[in-house]
Parts: sequence; C-alpha cells; structure tokens
Amino acid sequence: MIGQGFMGRTHSNAWSQIPRFFKPPVAPVMQTVFGRNAEAVAEFARTWGWRNSSTDWKATVAAPDVDLVDVVTPNNMHAEVALAALKAGKHVACEKPIARTIDEARKMVAAAGEAGAKTFVWYNYRRCPAVAMAHKLVKDGALGAIRHARAVYLQDWADESIPLIWRFQKEGSGTGANGDLNAHIVDMVRFVAGEEVTEVTGAIAETFIKERKLMTGPTAGGIAAGVGGSSRTGPVTVDDCVLALARLSGGGVASFEAARQATGNQNRNGFEINGSKGALKFDFERMNELQYYDATRPRGVQGWTTIMCTHGGDHPYAENWWPDAHVIGYEHGFTNQAYDILRVLGGQEPVVPIPDFQDAYQTQRILEAVMIAAAERRPVAIDEVK
Ligand SMILES: NC(=O)c1ccc[n+]([C@@H]2O[C@H](COP(=O)([O-])OP(=O)(O)OC[C@H]3O[C@@H](n4cnc5c(N)ncnc54)[C@H](O)[C@@H]3O)[C@@H](O)[C@H]2O)c1
Repeated sequence: MIGQGFMGRTHSNAWSQIPRFFKPPVAPVMQTVFGRNAEAVAEFARTWGWRNSSTDWKATVAAPDVDLVDVVTPNNMHAEVALAALKAGKHVACEKPIARTIDEARKMVAAAGEAGAKTFVWYNYRRCPAVAMAHKLVKDGALGAIRHARAVYLQDWADESIPLIWRFQKEGSGTGANGDLNAHIVDMVRFVAGEEVTEVTGAIAETFIKERKLMTGPTAGGIAAGVGGSSRTGPVTVDDCVLALARLSGGGVASFEAARQATGNQNRNGFEINGSKGALKFDFERMNELQYYDATRPRGVQGWTTIMCTHGGDHPYAENWWPDAHVIGYEHGFTNQAYDILRVLGGQEPVVPIPDFQDAYQTQRILEAVMIAAAERRPVAIDEVK
C-alpha cells in the first residue's frame, strides 16, 4: 500500500477485517506499507498489521513478494505509482478520482490494457448495501424509465481555519470539490441508474476562500486530524463548490452538486432518482436505509418506504455482517470493496460491478466536461472529452 493517511487507515482496516468476516477465494497478506517518514510508517505498520514498512515507493511497487499495489496517496501520485506498478506486472487498486486530469487517466487505462492486469478504483459508496440494493432494484426494472437523477455531495469542513493542504492545490489534486465529491456521485448515478451521462449542459464552479495559510508541517492526518498553518498565505487553485446539469443516455436529466462549505452538511452524500414506475432516495448520513417509492401500488397507499438494508440474503453484503438492523458504518463499504477485489483476483464475479480503470475513466470524462462547461460557459458533449 502506497500512502498512510486517512485512506491508508480505511484500507488497512478493510484488508485486515477480510478473513474475519468473508471467505474470499484468495487471502490478503498485508506485505508492505510505504510512507515518507520512516518512524511514522513503521509505527503505522505496527498499528495496522503490515509486515514491513518502507520509505521507497519505487522499490515497494516492484518487490517480488507484492501482487497487488493499493494506491492511497494524494491524486498527483496516482498515475506515476499506478504506471510503475503495472510495468512491474502488478495488479493495481487506486483511490478516486483515478487521476488529476483526463490525460493521466487515459495513460493509466492504456497501461492497464497493455499489462493485462486487473485494476480497481475505490468508489467505495457503491458497496454500501443500500446503494448496491438501489442498483439491483433499478436493474430489475423497479423504477421504469428514469426521468431525474438528483445527486448531492455536501460537506462543510473547509472553513478559513484549514490551511493550504494538497486538496486546495491544483498541482496536488487536479480539481477541488469536483474530483473529490462530484467524482463519487457521478459514479453512483452511473452505477445505480445503469446509464451514461451523455452531455454536461451547464456548470458553475466557485472558490469562496481564495487564500489559505501555508502548511507548517506534513499533512499526515489530512482533513480529519486538523493541521497547523503559518501566518503567511498562498492561493487556492481549485474550486470549493461545483454545480452541474447533465443529460442521461436513457433520455432523463441529472444534476450534481458538490460543496465543501455547505454549512450544516457534514457528509451528505446522496441521490434521489425518479422513474416512471417508482423512485429511490439515499443519504449516506443514514447509510443503512434506502427510501423506495413504488408508484405501481394503488394510489391510496402510495408513499415512501424506508428499507433497512441489513437483511442477509436480500441485501448485498449484509450476510457477512450482523443480524437485522444491527447497523454497519463507513468502514464496511471499504471492507466490502476489498472483498470484491479479492473475488475478482480469485477469478470470481464481484457481488455488484466494481469499477476498473476503464470504468473510472468514464467518470473522469464527465468530471472533465463539468470543468470545461464551467470555464467556457457552454454545453459539453461527453464525446468531446477523450
Ligand atoms: N474513497 C473515498 O471515500 C476517499 C476519501 C478520502 C480520500 N480519498 C482519496 O484517497 C487519496 C488519499 O487521500 P487521504 O485523505 O488519505 O489523504 P491524506 O492527506 O490523509 O494522506 C495522503 C498520504 O499520502 C502521503 N503523501 C502525501 N504527499 C505525498 C508526497 N508528495 N509523496 C509521497 N507521499 C505523500 C501522506 O504521507 C499520506 O500518507 C486521494 O486520492 C483522495 O482523493 C478517497
């Protein structure tokens, strides 16, 4: 695993939980974790159960005792690390967004094709049982023709006290709320609706806080742990908020809204999808629940139904966790994804479709179209972005 920050912790937890809750066809061995500081990464390895720690990522991805490289660095290292790992003959799992730019993403897809390797991208919200259930319901025809998909990912952590971490710098991240948050909801709408976005019809991107305090130390801990800042400032070079309108391949329309200063919304990641026969609603802050409206029932009894997606056998992944309504949390989506990665590596089908580099590239094209639409104030057909 390359990186040891916020996602380093979620992934380490996921890999280590697998043998306790799942029976994958191949077993994970947590071989080596890379970090920039020898002492910190050695401590991280001890805490999370990695056999070795390293401060040399190039040696780590090429090591003969490594089969799968898990990339959990800031976005500016995704392409470089993934390309090196593919060249060394490894399978690669990469955090989202797949890359900073469409050009980097395209190179990653080409390299994966040439290497014949298995690739995975951590769009982990697909693996919340409620979201996986929504995917299955739409696939089974419960919604009929999809008319609207309304998706939001709203957070409120990025006030003036947060210094200029990599997430606010184009060089480190590519874009701001777009690649960070829209990436997830674009992927979720594609996954749940089972349709492609064909056009971004219009978009707005805005940066509210244009200068931030410079960092005084490393970013380890990222947004979650709070980090220091000096009295000097530097420019924020990415968006804080992005809103986009889009068209879907089935004739429906979609909206995507991503924000880091949507006060009162700490991690409101969700969607509402309205079809000719029914509708679905999901809000990650109530992640065990899926709201379903069945418009084929007699009008007098139509209404939203709250489904607790914890019933083993009916709700994806639920049989691996706890009894009915003994709810699960954030980390379980990552463990469910780690399980599906091992299923694919072991020659089995994932429980629900898992994005590879090619699939994540489709999401990246849409994210790129959103930024072009915002900058040039015009509709952008996804076919334009390759
Ligand atoms: N799937 C999700 O829900 C989700 C959530 C958060 C972050 N992410 C993604 O995960 C990735 C990592 O995010 P994070 O929140 O863990 O970040 P973070 O800042 O907490 O950790 C980043 C890690 O990379 C290392 N690192 C930072 N700069 C480096 C450099 N220049 N050279 C080498 N190593 C460096 C850090 O030491 C740290 O170990 C990003 O791509 C982000 O978009 C995904």
